[in-house]
Amino acid sequence: MITGLNHVAIAVPDLEKAASQYRAMGAEVSDAQDLAEHGVTVVFVALPNTKIELLHPLGEDSPIAAFLEKNPSGGLHHICLDVGDIAGMTGIVAANGIRVLGDGRPKIGAHGKPVVFLHPKDTQGALLEFEQA
Ligand code: CO
Repeated sequence: MITGLNHVAIAVPDLEKAASQYRAMGAEVSDAQDLAEHGVTVVFVALPNTKIELLHPLGEDSPIAAFLEKNPSGGLHHICLDVGDIAGMTGIVAANGIRVLGDGRPKIGAHGKPVVFLHPKDTQGALLEFEQA
């Protein structure tokens, strides 16, 4: 089952500028972290009840590059929900006609925990990520 909101992700054209804006607004902002397997560099903004993930393309075929081509100023990219058991949840979504992106198997995400992404055409146009708590 879904147990909470882990983060909201924003694709940004200038990661350092975005990070410094959130720092200036008084938020706790992490160092940049390269996630080669996901083709992104991420910065996390810690909030009392959730996080904001700032996403920037990394490498040749980053999934974020095409998004930024369409949205040059950046934009809301996905939301990430905490789930108790990611294998169980991928079974539940498949049974409900929702496709899991990629090979359907979890990858290790930014927090060292398994994550999957769901096909946005199957989830009201919003890209959803599950992270196992
Ligand atoms: Co995310």
